[in-house]
Amino acid sequence: MSKQTTGLAIETAGLVKTFGENRAVDGVDLSVPAGTVYGVLGPNGAGKTTAVKMLATLLRPDGGEAHVFGHDVVREADAVRSRVSLTGQYASVDEDLTGTENLVLLGRLTGHSKRAALLRAEQLLEAFGLTEAAGRQVKNYSGGMRRRIDIAASILNTPDLLFLDEPTTGLDPRSRNQVWDIVRAVVAQGTTVLLTTQYLDEADQLASRIAVIDKGKVIAEGTKGELKASVGAGAVHVRLRDAEQRPQAQELLRTVLDAQIMLEPDPVALTARVGNGDNGRGASERASRALAELSHAGIHVDNFSLGQPSLDEVFLALTDRRPTPADTDATANSKEEAAA
Ligand SMILES: Nc1ncnc2c1ncn2[C@@H]1O[C@H](COP(=O)(O)OP(=O)(O)OP(=O)(O)O)[C@@H](O)[C@H]1O
Ligand SMILES: [Mg+2]
Repeated sequence: MSKQTTGLAIETAGLVKTFGENRAVDGVDLSVPAGTVYGVLGPNGAGKTTAVKMLATLLRPDGGEAHVFGHDVVREADAVRSRVSLTGQYASVDEDLTGTENLVLLGRLTGHSKRAALLRAEQLLEAFGLTEAAGRQVKNYSGGMRRRIDIAASILNTPDLLFLDEPTTGLDPRSRNQVWDIVRAVVAQGTTVLLTTQYLDEADQLASRIAVIDKGKVIAEGTKGELKASVGAGAVHVRLRDAEQRPQAQELLRTVLDAQIMLEPDPVALTARVGNGDNGRGASERASRALAELSHAGIHVDNFSLGQPSLDEVFLALTDRRPTPADTDATANSKEEAAA
């Protein structure tokens, strides 16, 4: 199937889904360029899965419109379905079958010959580092292997649009990196990916544009750079040699930078969020003056940097709350399955 590499893969206007009184998705406008990874970032209960389910035609919107490659998700659901694939925390593979058996079965179900299905299964298992586990029942896979076989199953017939709903929640750093590599490879083949995540670094790593959603609404949208720029010019990070000099450094930085100084858990570290001056120039000038004055005051600085704020800081500034470790627990995701 030929891929659409220009234009929009997804376009929604005022999309709404309510569950009783709860407006889970409350008027969402999205434009997702084809051929890219688009990140949808939001805390637990923000409405990410609900939005994805509507776009994948699994849930009927209560208001607004959504088009996938120009097809209306309600009136032309079949056309949408033929072009999308979904990987979530859903059972897309059969636990009792082996990795190979699952992929071959799916290949056969989607019209491949036995030979072609086996070939494709072997290719995917190899690409996903699952060759050794190919003959084992999926119920005996680790969490990371399980997530990889799920994604393998969803790209068996290279979809034009792949929904990945929190693909790395609960995975260890190494498995997360493997999944990220897979996502990059999928996009390199021309597939558009809509990725939901609670992990800011994941959106930072993979997505070219990001929508931040909270309580069913898009509260910010843009490229990573735009989102970061929206909360200020940057953050000055300072590491001192001597923890005892930190109060003095804090006072001096507060005066020179005219900013609130945050004391990091590390006793020699301080961070200041520097506001936007004229074209952001003000920030770097004030930062270099701050460094000079620290040195002048006899405060030993081991490390001094002016960087863009992290997406974490952006998220905090936008939602006024930080995702807690408990929020990112894998079990947090099972609630919508129970509710569905
Ligand atoms: N089938 C359902 N019935 C009733 N309420 C639901 C249903 N599915 C979701 N909700 C509610 O809708 C809101 C949005 O849920 P959703 O699962 O879309 O959030 P999410 O952003 O995917 O969260 P998480 O990060 O925890 O997966 C929540 O308040 C949730 O309780
Ligand atoms: Mg969810």
